[in-house]
Amino acid sequence: MIMFNFFRRKYTPRPIFEALGTDMHCHLVPQVDDGSKCFEESVECLKTLKAVGFNKVYITPHFQHPRFDNDEEDIRRRYQEMKLRAVEAAVDIEMAGVAGEYRIDSGFKNRLENPRFLQVAGKYVLVEFSLHQQMMGCDEMIFDLQMKGYDIILAHPERYPYLNVLGSRMEQLKNQGVFFQINALSLGGFYGEEPKRRAYQMLERGWVEFMGTDTHNTMYAQALVDLSNDRKVEKILNKYEFLNKTL
Ligand SMILES: [Fe+2]
Repeated sequence: MIMFNFFRRKYTPRPIFEALGTDMHCHLVPQVDDGSKCFEESVECLKTLKAVGFNKVYITPHFQHPRFDNDEEDIRRRYQEMKLRAVEAAVDIEMAGVAGEYRIDSGFKNRLENPRFLQVAGKYVLVEFSLHQQMMGCDEMIFDLQMKGYDIILAHPERYPYLNVLGSRMEQLKNQGVFFQINALSLGGFYGEEPKRRAYQMLERGWVEFMGTDTHNTMYAQALVDLSNDRKVEKILNKYEFLNKTL
């Protein structure tokens, strides 16, 4: 069995995420994307999610062409296996379902023609943009999806350098009814100072409906433990209303 004792723990976990209850964004189906490498690592991460206060989790592997050309049926089957392993390991967290984190890319157009999305709570399609550059036709594809009746959650808008909180495009997406999900770790500066600043700006504007952990591996899990000791983040969790509890 692989052991994950890479870290000397500086902090012990505090259950500050009880205020959210549900994590709706993480990559803990092993070996299907850049997330968890094996069942043991996923179990370790799930235990940490529980320790910092979550009692329910949706797992959301990447669907991204051509890097992670995942298939919904295959992901569903692998998720069920992961769920069994979690039960065997007595992980005390409800595995509420599997969804996708769909990259809006050239492959996404084909998905629009024959939609069979794995949705968060059977209701929301979680989408992400390129982390580097804006893709042409991106907002139109989102609009198309909405016209087909889907509710859209945009993953970590604070992480896209070309999406300025004070700019018109983010406001346009919000006016269009796109739900925004920030990453908890952004609030601690895990992705740098700019995403952190944007995440706080979005909160102040009242533009954040969901918070997720986007946990990929034990390094993220340890960062969450550290974050659970951040009193400012704890205050944020109690100050704002998030929709995580509705999932
Ligand atoms: Fe993600």
